[in-house]
Amino acid sequence: MSLKPFKAVIPAAGLGTRFLPATKAMPKEMLPVVDKPAIQYVVEEATQAGIHDILIIIGRNKNNLSNHFDSVPELESTLRKKGDEAKLAKVQQSSDLADIHFVRQGEPKGLGHAVLRARAHVGDHPFAVLLGDDLIDERDPLLTTMLEEHERTGAAIVALLEVEPSQIHLYGAAAVETTDNPDVVRVTGLVEKPSAEDAPSNYAVIGRYVLAPSVFDILERTEPGKGGEIQLTDALQELAADADGPGVRGVVFRGRRYDTGDRVDYIKAIVQLAADREDLGPELRPWFKDFAATL
Ligand code: G1P
Repeated sequence: MSLKPFKAVIPAAGLGTRFLPATKAMPKEMLPVVDKPAIQYVVEEATQAGIHDILIIIGRNKNNLSNHFDSVPELESTLRKKGDEAKLAKVQQSSDLADIHFVRQGEPKGLGHAVLRARAHVGDHPFAVLLGDDLIDERDPLLTTMLEEHERTGAAIVALLEVEPSQIHLYGAAAVETTDNPDVVRVTGLVEKPSAEDAPSNYAVIGRYVLAPSVFDILERTEPGKGGEIQLTDALQELAADADGPGVRGVVFRGRRYDTGDRVDYIKAIVQLAADREDLGPELRPWFKDFAATL
């Protein structure tokens, strides 16, 4: 349906207060997950889905982020002189990944406001929004399925995960109807961080969205909602309620996802990913077992 290439928007302007003092002078998106900053996983996910134009919405401490995606000539020439090709490749990998742009959010007025800051750069392209707190395992492609679903239907696409009812208050929750495809649902309503009693289902919106640029007009007039912030969920609710439009659809994700949003989940993500790595796993796995036995 959309002939223009997709762009990607990565909001990275949060204050990261759960990780203080680590995030005092560094965005939380730069925290390492094993040996790569969290945001690099997200940028790689976008490029693996074929998106090469990426806009990062930045807040305080933006320099760390932009430096990470820039080349570092001194470091590169030192590694080249030493003949350390493996490390040189690692340094160059993040600067060669994609065409990365930055815009400042200014005030932290919510996810909807952050996404609206992308309007000038995105223009009239369809775009994906990727939140850095959710890491999706590269072996379980989600974004590609969402892009295809958007191209096929023109709908706004959210990624949905079935969570325990006790967890739904941490997410946007979706009211859904089934479709012919067991992995795709029609979203009939969305509510930001409801209590377990008020939640329309236990389908939680996780941090991947594929949107048409028309969402910007809605965001422009979206009033602050939950927590006094301009919520992307509220703009999507308007699309879901519009009977004449293409609506909102959910791709149900059943793969591996690592939440890095709070300290416990962040540590779990590192342990899981490190245990799975070919270079680190063989040494770590027996150690994890021994360590667990001491607990
Ligand atoms: C944001 C969204 C929420 C969504 C979540 C996914 O919340 O507002 O709807 O479920 O991301 O991670 P946040 O986690 O930024 O508070």
